[in-house]
Amino acid sequence: MRIVHTIADLRQALRAAEHPSFVPTMGNLHAGHLALLAQAKPLGDASVASIFVNRLQFLPHEDFDSYPRTFEADCARLRDAGCDVLFAPREADLYPEPQHFKVVPDPQLADLLEGEFRPGFFTGVATVVMKLFMAVFAGKVQGTAVFGKKDYQQLMVIRGLVRQFALPIDIAAGETQRAEDGLALSSRNRYLSEAERAEALQLPLALRTLARDALAAAHALPDRLPALEAAARQALAARGWQPDYLTLRRRTDLLPPQSGDGAGALVVLGAARLGGTRLIDNLEV
Ligand code: PAF
Repeated sequence: MRIVHTIADLRQALRAAEHPSFVPTMGNLHAGHLALLAQAKPLGDASVASIFVNRLQFLPHEDFDSYPRTFEADCARLRDAGCDVLFAPREADLYPEPQHFKVVPDPQLADLLEGEFRPGFFTGVATVVMKLFMAVFAGKVQGTAVFGKKDYQQLMVIRGLVRQFALPIDIAAGETQRAEDGLALSSRNRYLSEAERAEALQLPLALRTLARDALAAAHALPDRLPALEAAARQALAARGWQPDYLTLRRRTDLLPPQSGDGAGALVVLGAARLGGTRLIDNLEV
């Protein structure tokens, strides 16, 4: 595996590749990231992973400074997984000057859910992803990038970005990887104490319960859903969580379902804080 830090060195490392496949990450890699890489590898003629903790997508009070940085261990994992090129830019490589030009996603999508609770988050994500895409794919006929469904709304924002800028990049979706007990793998799980780790399972359980109750009320979903969502939030809050949202939405636009929308077209999404750790998860319904 070649490790490069600058865009120039990355382009040099990829000069013979015609259609690279790419997995962007913020590092602290776990089995979820490695599954994305395994999915990406056969989709291109050179596999690229990036590690970059992107300041632009963190709010001032969020965990940019404490975000786990485990570069040596990440390199070993990527090497073992057969990654061809690791792009690990320093901040000055990717943002040599303040980033005044930004990619602002459609507010109808990006201001909902995560965007409501983390204003500007998707502008930060879309901006860095555009820069990473230009670094990896510029001059290539075609490429593929793989994003996890765990960040469901992020995946939709990136699909919109690629579509609206007509980028020659296929976006593949990776299934969420879960621990044996069902908790979605996330770099932020490492913030959890032992007791919190056991409790964390309640988030996917709450999503499953909301999905089940919503399907049972499918005949009157638009009327019944607000009460079901409130009950789901209250159940988590009663256990000591601070829920941001637990909600059932349409997969196409993440708006509330209308009558007629049913199984196969829906997704339950949740975000809640447990102690100092904010967890997100979702399940397609
Ligand atoms: O999902 C992530 O890890 C990040 O949001 C991404 C896509 C690497 C952009 O910083």
